Amino acid sequence: MKIIIVDDYKAMSKKAAIIIANQIILKPNSVLGLATGSTPLGTYNELVELHKEGIIDFSQVTTFNLDEYYDLSPDNTNSYHYYMMNNLFQYINIDLENTNIPNGITEDIDKECESYDQKIIQAGGLDLQLLGIGANGHIGFNEPNIKFESKTHLVGLDEKTINDNSRFFENKELVPKKAITMGIKNIMQARSILLLASGIDKADAIEKTVHGSITPKVPASVLQLHPNATLIIDKLAASKLK
Ligand code: F6R
Repeated sequence: MKIIIVDDYKAMSKKAAIIIANQIILKPNSVLGLATGSTPLGTYNELVELHKEGIIDFSQVTTFNLDEYYDLSPDNTNSYHYYMMNNLFQYINIDLENTNIPNGITEDIDKECESYDQKIIQAGGLDLQLLGIGANGHIGFNEPNIKFESKTHLVGLDEKTINDNSRFFENKELVPKKAITMGIKNIMQARSILLLASGIDKADAIEKTVHGSITPKVPASVLQLHPNATLIIDKLAASKLK
């Protein structure tokens, strides 16, 4: 695991965007795994700027998002479909046909999950998977005690995750209790992984991810086994590392 410690959120976002830009410049038809939440917002802003400056061309890029809330329609402002469109896709020249996000309102969950896994394989696998991390160590919505061999599946969200994500909703009752997420296996099969973390709330999870035992209790700890995982974390998120 490579660990890059930077001063703050802004520096984290800039570094992450540079790494993603390099990936796209070196391989214009890259397959990117994308995350949502607060953490990658700055990175997406930086990528939009790099695109505006003519430095990155997304026309051949394919994306797969990690997850989507179950039972939220794509036009719901809290859906990850809405998030991606409003924070990245509408500002870049990506072909929307090449963007993939699990369908949270599917009537056949098993089929949706299986076809998501298949689409990733057909696209040639993920070149780079961008990750945030939950304060409980989750990656994607793979909550503590997930099976490491899991592929895309429906999960029940932890109470902690529901509380943490309630800041985006009018009230906690409106936070979906389930989500469709790529599994740990999908994430680990990515050729490179970039995990971002900022702020003191993530310090415990980062310490366990880096120095703790590799255990499904801390899903991100599995990244210790990945041959090409990089963590870009700010000083506060790194503050519990020895
Ligand atoms: C989002 C995702 C989650 C978040 C994590 C951190 O697609 O998969 O694992 O990355 O919950 O969320 P923030 O960045 O809001 O702290």
